[in-house]
Amino acid sequence: MKREVINTNDGSTTIYLEKWDEHYHSKHGAIQEAYHVFIKNGLEHWCDLMDSKNPRILEIGFGTGLNAFITYLEHCKNSLTVSYHAVEAYPVNQQEVIRLNYVQQLQAHDFSEVFNLMHQSEWDIDLQIDSSFTLRKRRQLFETIDDGADFDLIYFDAFGARVQPELWDVAMFKRMYKALDNKGILVTYAAKGSVRRAMLEVGFIVEKLPGPPGKREMLRAVKK
Ligand SMILES: C[S@@+](CC[C@H](N)C(=O)[O-])C[C@H]1O[C@@H](n2cnc3c(N)ncnc32)[C@H](O)[C@@H]1O
Repeated sequence: MKREVINTNDGSTTIYLEKWDEHYHSKHGAIQEAYHVFIKNGLEHWCDLMDSKNPRILEIGFGTGLNAFITYLEHCKNSLTVSYHAVEAYPVNQQEVIRLNYVQQLQAHDFSEVFNLMHQSEWDIDLQIDSSFTLRKRRQLFETIDDGADFDLIYFDAFGARVQPELWDVAMFKRMYKALDNKGILVTYAAKGSVRRAMLEVGFIVEKLPGPPGKREMLRAVKK
């Protein structure tokens, strides 16, 4: 499918899929959205709630690597020890990576090698980026995820239900529920009623939270 790197309203880049009229991030601001949904309401919330600095994270959709990179920056700032698995079946290519401006926009020039390494590293191995951050990129279809209680936090960042409804149904959230440890949480930018109902059906406790700029609501689901 044809992919195009474009700018969002906060100045950060994203990728646009013309055929589906779908973006990898909010067109109102990729970085803004990532911080609001996954860091503030996901990572920070879990660390506070569990009084822990050692989250095991599963990302659904490595994509541009933005979520992995900002999680890396947060681990540096807050002395976290992170194990990060990112699942992706259709990786971006090097031409696309060099057009992404996250290092500049985040003023993270000291970590530009980390961003490049995240993209250039091999799939399906544990990459020790530093002594307290391990990244495993998993080249895999979401539909085949079969982990059992190995994670504390899921960044559920699939394309929207409008274009991939099969990734937002009860079967998929059963996989996510199984992958989470007790009291583990899943955060997503989506807030659709059908998504919320699918989460409730598999046993999650679901909260609606204010969304990032340009979006009224988002969801956070907690494993009972
Ligand atoms: C919204 S984007 C992820 C954005 C990403 N989190 C980021 O920070 O850039 C959704 C991702 O899911 C991937 N994808 C779509 N369908 C998939 C599937 N069935 N299995 C695995 N990956 C899939 C796409 O290639 C895309 O990278």
